[in-house]
Amino acid sequence: MKAVILVGGEGTRLRPLTCNRPKAMVPVLNTPFLEHVIHHLARHQVREIVLAMGHLAQPIEGYLGDGSRFGVRLSYVVEEAPLGTAGAIKNAEKYLDDTFLALNGDIFADLDITAMASFHRQCRAKVTIALTPVDDPTQYGLVETDERGRILRFVEKPSPEEITTNRVNAGTYVIEPDVLAQIPPGTNVSIERETFPRLLASGEPVYAYPSSGYWMDTGTPEKYLQLHRDLLSGRSGYYPLAGEVVTGEGCHIHPSAQIRGPVVIGSNCTIDRDVRIIGPVVIGNGCTVLEGALVGDSVIWLSLIHI
Ligand code: GDD
Ligand code: MG
Repeated sequence: MKAVILVGGEGTRLRPLTCNRPKAMVPVLNTPFLEHVIHHLARHQVREIVLAMGHLAQPIEGYLGDGSRFGVRLSYVVEEAPLGTAGAIKNAEKYLDDTFLALNGDIFADLDITAMASFHRQCRAKVTIALTPVDDPTQYGLVETDERGRILRFVEKPSPEEITTNRVNAGTYVIEPDVLAQIPPGTNVSIERETFPRLLASGEPVYAYPSSGYWMDTGTPEKYLQLHRDLLSGRSGYYPLAGEVVTGEGCHIHPSAQIRGPVVIGSNCTIDRDVRIIGPVVIGNGCTVLEGALVGDSVIWLSLIHI
């Protein structure tokens, strides 16, 4: 199965982390976010991935290249003006001839994509939407289903009065290619506000695939930090070295420094005399922590260098 990843958003809510780089390239555990998403897809045998891009496309393509380093084939489609979530998928249509996956490019999740795709086939659905439980559905797309998982209603960013469930759109879809015929080309269209409600209104089979695994939308600095805390403490199955102290190549760590995991130190870092690093902490490539500093519950990286 092929996948389209939506990476055209400006990431304004993640500022200042996105002032100098696209949201998809913001590092998680010192690796660009999108690289984690691509590894996750590759583990589920997704080998062809289209990146639907808008602003700041060049640094993404420059880093990821043709994808062969990650065992996948990458293609790029770039929008001149933002086309919205459905318009961006439509823009990738020439690559999409069979049932495909579409993903928001800012989600970190342990979602079982293989099981979701077979659920989609069993249900003979037009679209299957992964769901996740959240505390506050007002920031997400609320999804109401019947007892068999068929979606009855989709409400993007519901007001508090509209909340009837805590299960929301997890930002991963399995889609039949004929849905693309319903999206006008070259036009800004939202899949959440326009395409999904229209499919439901016309009685198309749209199903929900509930997931209880780890899930995080990395949309704000608070959530970005929480994602790191979760990965480092083992709350997601994704990171196998939870709890440990991991040090990259070329680091100089003074013998008097105290480092208590979970900590990840990138490559070519200098940790001076009497520094204390108390995890959860991630230190980016090329950082220097000066004498006597205490670092705790932090993610630190240099924002002005190219990755
Ligand atoms: N190519 C392209 N073009 N991508 C876009 C565009 C566009 O015009 N607009 C948004 N995107 C990408 C963003 O980069 C992001 O990866 C994804 O589409 C979703 O956009 P967000 O702006 O992050 O949406 P959100 O977080 O408010 O809500 C969405 O995600 C929630 C889950 O995190 C919705 O899909 C909600 O329904 C969902 O619950
Ligand atoms: Mg988002």
